[in-house]
Amino acid sequence: MNKHTVLVTGGAGFIGSHACVELLQAGYGVVVVDNLVNSKAEALSRVERITGKTLPFYQADIRDKPALTEIFAKESIATVMHFAGLKAVGESCEQPLNYYHNNVYGTLVLLEAMRDANVKQMVFSSSATVYQPSATGEYSEDFPLGAINPYGRSKVIIEDILRDVSAVDKIKQNGAPWKIALLRYFNPIGAHECGMIGEDPNGIPNNLMPYVLQVAIGKLRQLSVFGNDYPTPDGTGIRDYIHVVDLVKGHIKAIEAIESDKFKAGGCHAYNLGTGKGYSVLDIVNTFEKVTGRKVNYQFAPRRTGDLAESFANPERAARELDWVAEKNLDDMITDAWNWQVKNPQGYVD
Ligand SMILES: NC(=O)c1ccc[n+]([C@@H]2O[C@H](COP(=O)([O-])OP(=O)(O)OC[C@H]3O[C@@H](n4cnc5c(N)ncnc54)[C@H](O)[C@@H]3O)[C@@H](O)[C@H]2O)c1
Repeated sequence: MNKHTVLVTGGAGFIGSHACVELLQAGYGVVVVDNLVNSKAEALSRVERITGKTLPFYQADIRDKPALTEIFAKESIATVMHFAGLKAVGESCEQPLNYYHNNVYGTLVLLEAMRDANVKQMVFSSSATVYQPSATGEYSEDFPLGAINPYGRSKVIIEDILRDVSAVDKIKQNGAPWKIALLRYFNPIGAHECGMIGEDPNGIPNNLMPYVLQVAIGKLRQLSVFGNDYPTPDGTGIRDYIHVVDLVKGHIKAIEAIESDKFKAGGCHAYNLGTGKGYSVLDIVNTFEKVTGRKVNYQFAPRRTGDLAESFANPERAARELDWVAEKNLDDMITDAWNWQVKNPQGYVD
């Protein structure tokens, strides 16, 4: 017997495909909408092979209101997990209009289609980039917001919209209130342990782990470590890496919370999803070499503008209110990421 059905926007992407596996295995029905701007349909075939279940896939843009209206009319959706979005910080500085149009306008259209279909439960992919830079590197959910690039600002604007949307219904009490979980991810890496799904970036990767993988497998020559003069123990930047499977388990916990008394009054609640532990770039390189036995060729390069010395979550609220903690360690993250890379050296081939 299926639990209710979840519409997963961006379900063919890195995190979305892992969420589909976790949802299907937990007994939810899953419907995917994705325009494949940064993913391949093959990821969804793999999800079906891993789970032995089928999932309807609509290749559509979330800015296409008639397409969304049709999906809500055809499928009996109770909750939306909203991953669809563009996510490269550097690219967002080059193409701010594209980022705001895709991420902010796309979310507005999705919310209108949800309102029209009377679907009012959402789990939203937010990001640690919504926070103002903190002097200590640690972020709790009540730390002031103030993103420093267009990508991060698109997430802050969406969070503001979601807070406003959920506030209106609470006041008017006309029908069921909106129930929204804002999940602020730190640095998701790793892959499903079977090695059939993982992160498949287009072109040169923007993030550290896919870059390290491609250097180790010989696709890229050398890793540039941006900055070795930060005020951190080894001088390189520190981030809170989290296994993607732990991350998506946090989404299942968020749906369970939304459907429990905790969200009875509705509203919009933010949760950090991170481990609470930071690792430096050199920690990643050294652990990678230890776990895989492969050498990672690297050189130091100047700091990149906008990069912070240190960023890690205070994950206590998610532990307390969602009953969720990350369970996998850095060795697990690297083992699983490497397994995916070795089994799929060219990523997904359609
Ligand atoms: N990966 C990270 O480090 C990270 C960190 C914090 C937050 N996030 C957020 O999590 C979400 C998922 O990230 P990911 O790493 O899986 O990225 P991804 O690019 O692998 O997945 C995003 C998916 O959304 C789809 N998409 C984009 N715009 C769309 C549109 N207009 N209509 C329909 N589909 C669209 C893409 O084709 C892709 O399949 C994003 O919203 C991202 O901003 C990611």
